[in-house]
Amino acid sequence: MSLYDVIPISVADYRLRARRRLPRFLFDYIEGGANDEDTMAANVSDFRGYRLTQRVMRDVDGVDTRTTLAGRAASMPVALAPVGMAGMFARRGEVQGARAARAAGIPFTTSTVGICPVEEVAAAINQPFWFQLYMLRDRDLILKLLERAQNAGCDTLAFTVDLPVAGLRLRDYRNGMLGGGLTGKLSQLAQIVTSPLWAVDVGLRGKPHNFGNLREVVPDPDDLNAYKSFIDSQFDPTVTWKDIAWLRSVWQGKILIKGVLEADDARAAVDNGADGVVVSNHGGRQLDGVASSISKLAGVAAAVGEQAEVYLDGGVRSGIDVVKAVALGARGVLIGRPWVYAMAGCGEDGVVDMLELFRREIATAMALMGVTSIDEITSDLIERA
Ligand code: GLV
Repeated sequence: MSLYDVIPISVADYRLRARRRLPRFLFDYIEGGANDEDTMAANVSDFRGYRLTQRVMRDVDGVDTRTTLAGRAASMPVALAPVGMAGMFARRGEVQGARAARAAGIPFTTSTVGICPVEEVAAAINQPFWFQLYMLRDRDLILKLLERAQNAGCDTLAFTVDLPVAGLRLRDYRNGMLGGGLTGKLSQLAQIVTSPLWAVDVGLRGKPHNFGNLREVVPDPDDLNAYKSFIDSQFDPTVTWKDIAWLRSVWQGKILIKGVLEADDARAAVDNGADGVVVSNHGGRQLDGVASSISKLAGVAAAVGEQAEVYLDGGVRSGIDVVKAVALGARGVLIGRPWVYAMAGCGEDGVVDMLELFRREIATAMALMGVTSIDEITSDLIERA
């Protein structure tokens, strides 16, 4: 980035700003993936393997990017994905993300392992949002969480199924965020000291740094290792489709099953009562070596697209990528890293500006493809490169 690159105008620009501001272990946490990060890279690069169709002379005055997502109006087919510990990347980050999503007219998803509790998010935006759930061993705790989420106005549950165990994210070990003992702690301290803007704004003024939805059950909330210990001790690896049927019986709103790549799994999700699926490999943070999300989208859409809403996350870095996903059968996409980069680098306004950029990119692409509504973005407008 040169001295004259003063206006961020792409996700890559926001990423650079986030990198400058965040302590290394936090930047690595949001930036990184599992093992060699092959799947994470493929999520992005496989979008380049598709080409959109240019159509001309079609009267594209009045392009409209609006749609509905999980039954509610949205300004474009984009939602903010759940991100664990978003409140460590900016002060009360879940609130900032939720406010930005409201300003942009799209859904916000808060994470089970968010810093801000659902009640804090609800009080900040005063409108429905989505709640992401991990299956915990303690089903009573889940029932309480779901009740809290429902009372806070969450109308859609994104139930994550691709994390029965945590993937091996090597960066988190290398930089001392997980494990590492005293050496790790000293390294983290040095990373914080050399990030003074973050240290004051988030480190000091952004407290408390506990997992707001789980504060009663994560024993030592100021130690981020508690996150890993909590996953190891509480995330339930015994989950099967029958648990979805149970969730269906206790959750009144919509349920999206997040983390499906195979058509058969998508069918099972729908057969067990899901309203939709999210084609996802958890941003390449779980099984390294598995296929990219975009390469699996059409197969899942063909299997369940008639009965259920199909979403995609992983690798979406622009409005062009959104249009490609919609053309391949997605109702919408979830973006994770992009909103956290924008928020960490440029705050809530940064997220709003980045979302407006996405909207403009979608609208421009639609006009150049000769369509004026999201419904018209169909599979005949995309081909393999
Ligand atoms: C949590 O979901 C993570 O990917 O870190």
